[in-house]
Amino acid sequence: MCGIVGYIGKEQAYPIILKGLKRLEYRGYDSAGIAIYDGNDLNICKTKGKVADLQHKCESEIALKGTVGIGHTRWATHGEPNDVNSHPHCSNSGKLAIIHNGIIENYESLKTELQNRGYIFSSDTDTEVLVNLIEDIMINEKVKLGKAVQIALNQTIGAYAIAVFDRTKPNEIVVARLGSPLAIGVGDDEYYIASDASPFIEYTKKAIYLEDGEMAVVRLGKKIKVRKIKDDSLVDPYVQKLQLNLDQIEKAGYEHFMLKEIYEQPSAIKDTYRGRMLADRGIIRMAGVDDNLEKFLNAKRIIVVACGTSWHAGLVSEYIFEDLARIPVEVEYASEFRYRNPVINKDDVVIAISQSGETADTMAAIKLAKENGAFVFGVCNVVGSSISRETHAGAYTHAGPEIGVASTKAFTTQITILSLMALKLGKAKGSISNSDYHMYLNEMEQIPSKIEKALQSNDHIMKVAAVYKNAKNCLYLGRGYNFPVALEGALKLKEISYIHAEGYPAAEMKHGPIALIDEHMPVVVIATKKGHYEKVVSNIQEIKSRKGKIIAVVTEGDTSVKNIADHVIEVPETFEALTPLLTTIPLQLFSYHIAVMLGKNVDQPRNLAKSVTVE
Ligand code: F6R
Repeated sequence: MCGIVGYIGKEQAYPIILKGLKRLEYRGYDSAGIAIYDGNDLNICKTKGKVADLQHKCESEIALKGTVGIGHTRWATHGEPNDVNSHPHCSNSGKLAIIHNGIIENYESLKTELQNRGYIFSSDTDTEVLVNLIEDIMINEKVKLGKAVQIALNQTIGAYAIAVFDRTKPNEIVVARLGSPLAIGVGDDEYYIASDASPFIEYTKKAIYLEDGEMAVVRLGKKIKVRKIKDDSLVDPYVQKLQLNLDQIEKAGYEHFMLKEIYEQPSAIKDTYRGRMLADRGIIRMAGVDDNLEKFLNAKRIIVVACGTSWHAGLVSEYIFEDLARIPVEVEYASEFRYRNPVINKDDVVIAISQSGETADTMAAIKLAKENGAFVFGVCNVVGSSISRETHAGAYTHAGPEIGVASTKAFTTQITILSLMALKLGKAKGSISNSDYHMYLNEMEQIPSKIEKALQSNDHIMKVAAVYKNAKNCLYLGRGYNFPVALEGALKLKEISYIHAEGYPAAEMKHGPIALIDEHMPVVVIATKKGHYEKVVSNIQEIKSRKGKIIAVVTEGDTSVKNIADHVIEVPETFEALTPLLTTIPLQLFSYHIAVMLGKNVDQPRNLAKSVTVE
């Protein structure tokens, strides 16, 4: 939901900011802009479109020279994506420029007040209101930029990560955050500002992550001072040492990040269980669970809150927690849970799952659960993210940066963590036998190489994708553990290829969706040997007799389904509870190839953003 970048130092700001915006483009990509101060003027270049369009415009129109500047890549909230609504926005006098990620909810009343005082607005954005409010406060209360930002933010309702520049004070940038992430990279006599550390990772490994409700004046030659926006109290900033590497955020020869991330799954899963699962010694070590074991063991139920793909991983965990640990599980869309007046008890354990760790609805669900006394455990990928900080305890998936907007390795690593938790609790509760426990650990160790094997079907999957690339609709069916995989497969197809797709529990087909089946309807069925195999085969027969086209994901060596289905894609055999880790792979590749063949922007599908920081 919008990416922000800033630089102040001794280098030329434009190339640093432009490169940073390219790295943050996953956060939003419907318009972009840059403002650079050249010593006299603040030169602004902005446009509807992607960062590449911005680069083209800037480099053909104005030379952006100077050592301080700010930049923005937008996911529109208020006002359609066009040149005028793009950030940075300036105050009426042209003295201030701002970039903003978030939403100012009370912007209309603030705008009316400012209009009554003579302010004129050229855009439809809430951000232009905020920058003029700051200017108005500077004029009326005769305060400097930092103070004016603080007063203005105390009058706003909403979410923000902002960077504000005053052309009359060109040695500083004021930043603040509430609900949207903001990191400050600390270099030698230079500072970087960004929504995450990727724009400055090659320049410095030192970063300060602002907490919600904090602001800072980033001033050349001075140490960063962080304050609470509400009461002005000073906060000691914690300078974190970053672990991120440059090659983790580059494509490494793959055509798209999504493909790279699909292929990274074997190593990502190893990274997830490395140091946690010692299969030969029968140990699962997870500090967040170990330290709170009683809470998990005494839990009357687990409530999972998440959105999108993370919600699908939550659904898989419902099966595995109930199967192995015998703890009842409810899986909730965070966006529904937060507004439903849900019954939350003190002995509930809430598990919040989020790749980005920034999803606004999941964050709100966590806060609600905490207010009601529940223990909240986070499963996040992004280290230091808001959700990982807001939860009582948690476990990182350690999948590495996921940049493709369609989530892939986040899903399988989330399932890995949740499976380890279920196994650990099952063992502690005695609901899983010792021998089964050890068998699971050994099988878990085999999963990365089994995924490697599943990936070898890539060329075959590409050929199947070529047959169905022009389909208008697609059904995905699965049962048990593979029902959430069907949902996830359908989500992947619709989000990157824009083909309408729906996932269903296979047995539900005859309660409605079967009416859709004719010779034009491809149906992807997950029919692996373990888990209701015969029943799924009957479902396949039902599709066949209505002339539907069947693409079946089967266990290696299966012959029965081969005789009925139009295409089969094999995955290695594994335990039923672990099949989602394998059956997901061909569905990711199938969607990927269709989207590529249709010429879609796989890594940046229309209307989407990687990190949904607005509700
Ligand atoms: C789908 C996708 C989204 C996210 C959802 C939650 O491919 O990426 O559905 O899964 O927006 O995001 P996180 O996991 O960051 O909370």
